[in-house]
Amino acid sequence: MELPFAESYKIKMVEPIRRSTREEREEWLKEAYYNLFNLRAEYVYIDLLTDSGTGAMSDRQWSAMMLGDESYAGASSYLKMKAVIKELFGFNDFLPTHQGRAAENVLFSLLVKNGDIVPGNSHFDTTKGHIEFRHAHAVDCTIDEAFHPTEFHPFKGNLDLNKLENVFKKYPIEKIPFVVVTLTCNTSGGQPVSMQNLKEVYALAKKYGTRVIFDSARFAENAYFIKTREEGYQDKTIKEIVKEMYSYADGMTMSSKKDAIVNMGGFIGFRERKMYEEASVYNIMFEGFVTYGGMSGRDMNALTQGLLEGTEFDYLETRIKQVAYLGDQLKTYGVPMLEPFGGHAIFLNAKEFLPQIPKEEYIAQKLATEIYLEGGVRAVEIGTMLADRDPDTRENRYPELEMVRLAIPRRVYTNSHMDYVAATIANVFERRNEIKRGYKILREPPIMRHFTVELETL
Ligand code: F0G
Repeated sequence: MELPFAESYKIKMVEPIRRSTREEREEWLKEAYYNLFNLRAEYVYIDLLTDSGTGAMSDRQWSAMMLGDESYAGASSYLKMKAVIKELFGFNDFLPTHQGRAAENVLFSLLVKNGDIVPGNSHFDTTKGHIEFRHAHAVDCTIDEAFHPTEFHPFKGNLDLNKLENVFKKYPIEKIPFVVVTLTCNTSGGQPVSMQNLKEVYALAKKYGTRVIFDSARFAENAYFIKTREEGYQDKTIKEIVKEMYSYADGMTMSSKKDAIVNMGGFIGFRERKMYEEASVYNIMFEGFVTYGGMSGRDMNALTQGLLEGTEFDYLETRIKQVAYLGDQLKTYGVPMLEPFGGHAIFLNAKEFLPQIPKEEYIAQKLATEIYLEGGVRAVEIGTMLADRDPDTRENRYPELEMVRLAIPRRVYTNSHMDYVAATIANVFERRNEIKRGYKILREPPIMRHFTVELETL
């Protein structure tokens, strides 16, 4: 008999989690004003709020922490990280930062000016936030297929070269400091970008005279998809693929909380020495001296080891197959989802799941809270709540897709947990017609409301 697939690691340390009753969860959810961010983590049985900073470190990462060099300047931990960044991405210079958005803050402080245009593939919220905060504009150039929930395309994170070229033609090139390519594209459902597309985007950017920066949070998952889906890459290692990917970039921002499998950390990688030198000033102001930038030596050691492990095929195969395992089960129950499945998460299509709820009543928020009530599983709303209000009109912005994201932490849950999650959602799906109304906002902050908004049931 052919031997089945199984995880590429075993478990050495465990953390208890507790199941709760439906009555308890009803009480807790009410106290949280129906916002899952307001729940105590201990009230959650399986936490799929995010895959960011929630991964399990390996024995090698923990032992690397003991060797952390906590010198203020020139620590060996910094030098080791520098060597691995050079080896993986080919960049000579880098700046450590405390997380991904801090990397964006430092780099964009240097590059993004009032009135600038930054094209990309569905920019992540903090990326867009850092662009708009500087009174510049993010222009989405993602291919149209990405906006169709079930149309098959192996690389739905790709940029549409015509859309991109139109941006280059429409605005003076001095107004376009760079193109940002997000790998994988979180906003469009954890979808990868092909090597071919990376190559073409880079060539087009060079033709018009601008830079390409990779938002790299899930770069290794992207490389896995290139290896398994793109012609000509089957026999290459993940590390070889990563090296080629980054030959089409002038720099990178990294949230190490994802594919470097650490709980905190980030960095910026630079091709141009001059850009590194200029950005260093902002790093010192916002993050810390250039050789630690908001991270302790031990954290840099764990990150460095995590980058090496995160780019191993066996690890990535275990990870991405687990996400697909959950997706495949949900599919057998008929649950509407975004397909193909993303690298880090399954995205439920809330509009199709609960078509009876009007968009004014926050469809995806309702679905996320129903999933919590059903089984103590915490997911995150990616819909109208997150899209927030238009800054000028203060009207709700209603996105095309209302989604609930089930983000899977790395190396944390077993497939039995995935079975539990699938059954929880299947139960909600079975009783979906009994869910009649959504929510009304009681209180909300002026921006980024999804974190703290308070709701009441209708
Ligand atoms: N870029 C992408 C593509 C991200 O997904 C994130 C974070 C960031 C940048 C910012 O990094 O959190 O380290 O400051 N995404 C998390 C998520 C929060 O849940 O998807 P950070």
